[in-house]
Amino acid sequence: MCGIVGYIGNLDSKEILLKGLEKLEYRGYDSAGIAVMNDNGVQVFKEKGRIADLRNIVDEDVVANTGIGHTRWATHGVPSTVNAHPHQSNSGRFTLVHNGVIENYDILKREYLQGVALKSDTDTEIIVQLIELFVNEGSYTEEAFRKTLTLLKGSYAIALLDAENNETIFVAKNKSPLLVGLGETFNVVASDAMAMLQVTDQYVELMDKEIVIVTKDAVKIQTLNGEEISRDPYTAELDASDIEKGTYPHYMLKEIDEQPLVMRKIIQKYQDDNGELTIDQEIVEAMNDADRIYIIAAGTSYHAGLVGKQFIEKIAKIPVEVHISSEFGYNIPLLSEKPLFIFISQSGETADSRAVLVNVKEMGHKALTITNVPGSTLSREADYTLLLHAGPEIAVASTKAYTAQIAVLSILAEVTAKSRGLELNFNLVQELGIVANAMEVLCDAKEDFEDIARKFLSTTRNAFFIGRGIDYYVGLEGALKLKEISYIQAEGFAGGELKHGTIALIENGTPIIALATQESVNLSIRGNVKEVVARGANPCIISMKGLETEEDSFIIPEVNELLTPLISVIPLQLISYFAALHRECDVDKPRNLAKSVTVE
Ligand code: G6P
Repeated sequence: MCGIVGYIGNLDSKEILLKGLEKLEYRGYDSAGIAVMNDNGVQVFKEKGRIADLRNIVDEDVVANTGIGHTRWATHGVPSTVNAHPHQSNSGRFTLVHNGVIENYDILKREYLQGVALKSDTDTEIIVQLIELFVNEGSYTEEAFRKTLTLLKGSYAIALLDAENNETIFVAKNKSPLLVGLGETFNVVASDAMAMLQVTDQYVELMDKEIVIVTKDAVKIQTLNGEEISRDPYTAELDASDIEKGTYPHYMLKEIDEQPLVMRKIIQKYQDDNGELTIDQEIVEAMNDADRIYIIAAGTSYHAGLVGKQFIEKIAKIPVEVHISSEFGYNIPLLSEKPLFIFISQSGETADSRAVLVNVKEMGHKALTITNVPGSTLSREADYTLLLHAGPEIAVASTKAYTAQIAVLSILAEVTAKSRGLELNFNLVQELGIVANAMEVLCDAKEDFEDIARKFLSTTRNAFFIGRGIDYYVGLEGALKLKEISYIQAEGFAGGELKHGTIALIENGTPIIALATQESVNLSIRGNVKEVVARGANPCIISMKGLETEEDSFIIPEVNELLTPLISVIPLQLISYFAALHRECDVDKPRNLAKSVTVE
């Protein structure tokens, strides 16, 4: 969701900015733009649609050593060239890109900008016009920038150019992610390190309410009150090849295929020298101190949380509640006496989850973040972090992060259980190894899933996923995958629930994807399938070896019953992928969606 890049140095900035924006495409966007600045002033190029469309309108002949760029995911105002960033003040002196949402933009408009003709519908334009207003009233640029920032309510990451000073990019951040990257004869600005990995792997994190003056030789960080801050850079441990598609047609397919590898990596990362699973002792103590665990997450991570609840309750015997982060703020349940909060977030940047974390910390509770991105906001602000080690996930639809989240949650449950002296009747390292092998078998069966997608989903308007127990939670994730990338209306239901309303939607040929991986509910879920078949549904049953019948469409290899979500989701990921392909959808960048949702 919205991405920022900036470059100041000795080279022409256009290509660096455009390449940077391409690396941010995965976050989701609907328009893009760059502004480049040289002795002749600032030139803005912006366009609705893809970076490729933007490339077509950038004037090749303009050479400029300083520039900023932006991918926009519309919040205020429709996706259009006018609403695309960068935005300029009316005189053209100031040019700015912004991520986030300015909550009081209407009030600011009324109070300060009555006489100013605004060109766009965005909250962002208010910021750049305010800066110009304060400069016109006598402030110098940095002062006007600070003054404006103190008026803003909401979230922002901002990069600003002043046409009268082509040696500086002014930067600020509050709640939205932003990094400054360091080079020998240049410096860069980026929403995430991936964007600028092409030029540097050295980054400085910015904290909320900091302002940064970036020149080609220096980076000066200050608080809004002018206090100087010194912070060491860190090395972004990303391999440039991790963020390339290689020979794959889509990132999503590559990431699905990476899941066995990720499983093995997680086992290795969480094993000690004796081959025992281990996690930070402080985290184990926090788990043991808690009388109840509250898992907070959004989207796919929420679905992983539902599975994690089963592990923590069944293995570690601690009660767990799972909450959608965007709802938690308004519906705070009656908290237990000693709660521990676990935030699950692939990106570590989801604004809804972060809002809960801020709240929870204010209440004085402990928080653990499970994330794929070291140094992400949710990781920095929680007391503890467990990493997913899944490598960058670029496709908007989450796949390998989901299975990594589940695997890490299973390890958390196991290590906690052992520390409580609870006997486990299986060896998790071995079981996860079996899972990794089973994942490989499923990834090799792509043709079968392509056939299933063609047979069940190529023309349908809707599809239902059913399951009981842990299969129900995987069904929710399967439905989310399918709707995200193929735009088929898909819903997941508990097997017994369909008949309490939704069965009214079953028509001749309606696809029902049923999961049957749990022995204890195998007969009941098959009963539910019969109910819908009697009304014309077209059933696709995915069962587990040992529980199969002749009517099943696919039989997954047998793994530990608790760990089935790790493999039963793979057919659903692949079926969704092929359904989206058959329907000629943009698999990696589905419409309207963003990978990293940094607004509430
Ligand atoms: C967006 C993405 C989803 C993701 C959700 C939560 O909606 O498109 O794939 O599951 O955000 O993201 P997080 O990074 O917090 O896991």
